[in-house]
Amino acid sequence: MEPLNRSLDVDWRLWPHDVRGSRAWARGLERAGILTWEEARRIDAGLAEVATRLEALPGPAGLPEEDIHTVLERMLIEEIGSVGGKLHTGRSRNDQVATAFRLWGKDAIRALRDRLAALVEAIAGKARENPGIAMPGFTHLQQAQPVPAAHWLLSRAWPLVRDLQHLRAVLRECDVLPLGAGAVAGCPFDIDRKALADDLGFGGVSENSIDTVSDRDWTARLLFGAAMTGVHLSQLAEDLVLFSSSEFGFVRLGDGYTTGSSLMPQKRNPDVAELTRGKSGRLVGNLVGLLTVLKGLPTGYNRDLQEDKEAVFDSVDTLAVVLPAITGAVAGLTLDRGRLAAAMGTQMLATDLADYLVRRGVPFREAHHVAGALVRVAEDVGRELGRLTLEEMNAVHPAFADDVYEVFDPAASVESRSVRGGTAAAALEVQFDALARALEEAVAGP
Ligand code: ARG
Repeated sequence: MEPLNRSLDVDWRLWPHDVRGSRAWARGLERAGILTWEEARRIDAGLAEVATRLEALPGPAGLPEEDIHTVLERMLIEEIGSVGGKLHTGRSRNDQVATAFRLWGKDAIRALRDRLAALVEAIAGKARENPGIAMPGFTHLQQAQPVPAAHWLLSRAWPLVRDLQHLRAVLRECDVLPLGAGAVAGCPFDIDRKALADDLGFGGVSENSIDTVSDRDWTARLLFGAAMTGVHLSQLAEDLVLFSSSEFGFVRLGDGYTTGSSLMPQKRNPDVAELTRGKSGRLVGNLVGLLTVLKGLPTGYNRDLQEDKEAVFDSVDTLAVVLPAITGAVAGLTLDRGRLAAAMGTQMLATDLADYLVRRGVPFREAHHVAGALVRVAEDVGRELGRLTLEEMNAVHPAFADDVYEVFDPAASVESRSVRGGTAAAALEVQFDALARALEEAVAGP
């Protein structure tokens, strides 16, 4: 039973938050007339001593207690004697752990937010650094239409901004005080929970004591956010793996982010991207694991809930390692202009060719058919679409004229898509502004 029961190795890191919650609880008990001023003062000083002792310990190894809350109480009584036993009046480990966890959670969410924001800024910075470079836009991983490389980069920043918006909501949800809910039925003493919330910096107070001791929704939503970010990072990483391969060669990763092979001297392996992609597995797993724990729980507190912390700590720790690494990799990558230019086949301008006919009054369905036929002609004669002669084109449709060759300029194609969200330089400027604004909004708050 003992090793099963024990959560100390996992919840050890909650001690600063548990000390903070406990000091506030002592002040609350004093306000309620349960502790005298003198008792509250001694408990507060004792908890400060306990914090100093815990700070000096390398970890929980060798401590006999089952969890951090029991360690705290034992040490407090060691410091100040039996008056320390008054701290737990009206409190249960059920509302205590929920409080410490939320205090930790608010800090963790803010730190995660800052790391994510740094990645968004690195991506946007890289996009800014590389104006006017066209690359293939892909659908089905087939060359589709030309896009600016900056547009591709920004397409990997927007999902992360949505992740930040989600985190902001999770932070708000986490910002509710559980303390005072007791084991399940609330507290029989005259505790001012609003004053407690203010003391601990919580924006609100929970409304139902049964719900309060069993509510781990914020952890599930945090784990969903981490999983979603993991998926987004995995997709970005996959782009980097693919684009840094010798077959594509669009991107070169900085030397600090690749590794050689112990066998093959020529290798520059994109480990940073592969590890990022790989880590997404545990981020998804932690979410599924916690939801599974929560699913069958009956009303009130259940000990299963102790399983919440390991999953949350693991996801937060994982992102704390992955995000700075992938941020550094993005900041240090270079785009290979030559390889990007060489990849720009005029086949990708087949849609523009159809649009050329549309501007001459040909219905799009027919224009689409004509452009498709010309792509096949180009393939048959073994030439680029843009190298077909005017006669060859007119043989398929009479509406082509000399100016058709202007169509085969990828830069012009990019520039022609000036709708909001499109590829033209002016649209890109609007996008940069919108991204900066969305980022600023997503990171604003408590
Ligand atoms: N260690 C537990 C946790 O991490 C809190 C203890 C509550 N225990 C109990 N038997 N009610 O959630």
